[in-house]
Amino acid sequence: MDPPTLLLLLLLMFASAINAQFPATYCGSTGNFTANSTYQTTLTTLLSSISTTNYLSFSYSFFNASAPVSGASETLYVFGLCRGDFNAKDCRSCLDDIASDMRRVCPLQKEAIVYKGNCIIRYSNASFSGVVATKPMYVAGAPANFSDTFDAAMRKLLNSLGAEAAGGSSLKKYASRNESAGADLVNMFMQCTPDLTEQQCSNCLGTGVQTIRDCCAAYAGGRVMVPSCLILWGTYHNFFDSVSHPIPPPPTRAPAPTSPSHEADVLPPPPVGKSNSTRTVMIAVVTSVSALLVIAVVVLLKVKRKKEQQPRQSVEGEVVQEMSKADLQQFDFSTIIAATDNFSDSNKLGQGGFGAVYMGKLPNGREFAVKRLSQNSSEMEVEFRNEVMLIAKQQHRNLVRLLGFCLEGVERLLIYEFVPNSSLDKFIFDPEKRANLNWDKRHKIIMGVARGMLYLHEESQVGIIHRDLKASNILLDSDMNPKISDFGTARLFKLDQTHAETSRIVGTYGYMAPEYAMKGNFSVKSDVYSFGVLVLEIVSGRRNNHRIGNVMEDLISYVSKNWRERSIANIIDPSINSCSSTEIVRCIEIGLLCVQENEASRPTMLSVFLMLNSQSVALQVPS
Ligand SMILES: *[C@@H]1O[C@H](CO)[C@@H](O)[C@H](O)[C@H]1NC(C)=O
Ligand SMILES: *[C@@H]1O[C@H](CO)[C@@H](O)[C@H](O)[C@H]1NC(C)=O
Ligand SMILES: *[C@@H]1O[C@H](CO)[C@@H](O)[C@H](O)[C@H]1NC(C)=O
Ligand SMILES: *[C@@H]1O[C@H](CO)[C@@H](O)[C@H](O)[C@H]1NC(C)=O
Ligand SMILES: *[C@@H]1O[C@H](CO)[C@@H](O)[C@H](O)[C@H]1NC(C)=O
Ligand SMILES: *[C@@H]1O[C@H](CO)[C@@H](O)[C@H](O)[C@H]1NC(C)=O
Repeated sequence: MDPPTLLLLLLLMFASAINAQFPATYCGSTGNFTANSTYQTTLTTLLSSISTTNYLSFSYSFFNASAPVSGASETLYVFGLCRGDFNAKDCRSCLDDIASDMRRVCPLQKEAIVYKGNCIIRYSNASFSGVVATKPMYVAGAPANFSDTFDAAMRKLLNSLGAEAAGGSSLKKYASRNESAGADLVNMFMQCTPDLTEQQCSNCLGTGVQTIRDCCAAYAGGRVMVPSCLILWGTYHNFFDSVSHPIPPPPTRAPAPTSPSHEADVLPPPPVGKSNSTRTVMIAVVTSVSALLVIAVVVLLKVKRKKEQQPRQSVEGEVVQEMSKADLQQFDFSTIIAATDNFSDSNKLGQGGFGAVYMGKLPNGREFAVKRLSQNSSEMEVEFRNEVMLIAKQQHRNLVRLLGFCLEGVERLLIYEFVPNSSLDKFIFDPEKRANLNWDKRHKIIMGVARGMLYLHEESQVGIIHRDLKASNILLDSDMNPKISDFGTARLFKLDQTHAETSRIVGTYGYMAPEYAMKGNFSVKSDVYSFGVLVLEIVSGRRNNHRIGNVMEDLISYVSKNWRERSIANIIDPSINSCSSTEIVRCIEIGLLCVQENEASRPTMLSVFLMLNSQSVALQVPS
């Protein structure tokens, strides 16, 4: 198979994974039982007991059964959970519907889990009782028109509902509430399995809430489901139903909305073939892109109008205003001089394109990093404003935090949190240090960078294209959590436009998408390209476009070639000793999807994030 076909196939495979319709089935990987064994008979009996159990037993929205496997020293446990507001009858029928699916999809696996829109069922040879399980995670969402009122309503619900659900009764840890968002009502449900303690439930929902904040808080509806808890939300005129309908139909607002009806949860007919589901994805993509454009234009008009009304302020006035809004500190130049020992070489952490970075220590012991922008560069003002205006308001654990600034005469200083472990390139490309980066750490870094990029693209108030994502711009804290830094080259894209051209190309060779390197076109997709290069570098421990003797090593061709020949072992850094090879392979696949030449074929950061989080891909693989 030639590379484009292969990549297309991969793309389709992932697209259908993201577009996974309910029920979503995850077969366990702990082991298989033998066909026609007592394990199988016990399992069949337990699962079919759902339809024969008196429905009143489902009145607390869960089903619980276990039985010893005869002839083996094992016990089989089955657990089902329905949405807390379901009545007993609906709960039983929801669970019964999917019980048969799991036997079909996971014929021999010793454990499995199935998520449907409103219920979850799982079985295993290990007891679930009192154990918080947050994997596999199922995330889905439908894009929305962003508004401040919606944002505020979501925030309120995400902040408060978890505690309420966790504090529920011992048999029903469930809470739901609605918040008004302009003309709409946002309704949210949170629920845990009843075996968890209040604290455990809180922890489980906390994981879900964090996921939503990271990926989809601006979504009109969505779901996060893990084995031990679930969060569903939606607006009343667009109750989020299934990811196969991410785009709302033309609004047919019900005159008097009541609680979301169970009928709404009838599954859509299963897709007939690939083309069908691909089309759904295409429609989703096209529609959400046009929605984005509409938002961009609206924001642009608003901003223009604002600008016309206000007399232009001086840079300093503007910066100080932004800073104070964002709670940032203005430092005295003399303080910085003292803290950095007058920018001594021993305090120098590095030299970037726009200036040197020093480490500083305040009298109270607090450490920080300070970037002193090169003077006499015409770009200094632009760079300074860019960082301040773009980053001041962005607070995310995977973005390096700007603490303050200093403006004095021609000096322009930016003060950041100090991130102790230097940058990622110092680890992955170092023959000795890379051995300390096992796969778990590398995976955590990939996930963190994906979260940070997703935040920049989708969640930040304005939408930001980084333009210079690379290993040396990923800083690592003391726990090796990644923090994306260096926003000097970043551009707002929702204010500018989703695609832009620039005559000055500022990225780093090797990480730049072809359309950006050659024509200066940049977009969120050029960031996705850089992300793909970064992922492949992390997995392989090799630099892209790195000169070895007289030969330019092109990592992307190298990885693609080995991928085609199925010599995966050649790709993976030998110092990774890991047994989670499926996770590694998945990261390689995602990396390859991101570095496709055709920018339209590259996934968005949201898709990347969902792919990295979903374990179900193997199920959708067409053989
Ligand atoms: C469940 O099955 C797996 C695979 O056969 C086995 O390794 C594990 O020990 C079993 N767990 C229990 C609690 O019996
Ligand atoms: C378990 O069974 C599944 C499906 O029948 C199969 O794909 C998988 O390779 C088996 N796993 C093991 C470890 O035998
Ligand atoms: C299991 O039982 C079914 C039906 O009795 C039979 O068709 C099948 O061949 C059996 N499989 C094995 C591996 O014995
Ligand atoms: C988004 O805005 C468009 C145009 O204003 C409107 O037609 C559509 O109903 C809105 N969608 C939602 C989910 O509010
Ligand atoms: C919103 O929630 C309140 C309190 O739970 C409830 O009384 C009310 O009926 C809900 N509104 C709608 C439209 O469902
Ligand atoms: C479910 O059953 C198991 C074992 O039969 C038991 O330990 C557990 O407490 C039950 N859970 C609930 C919520 O009833």
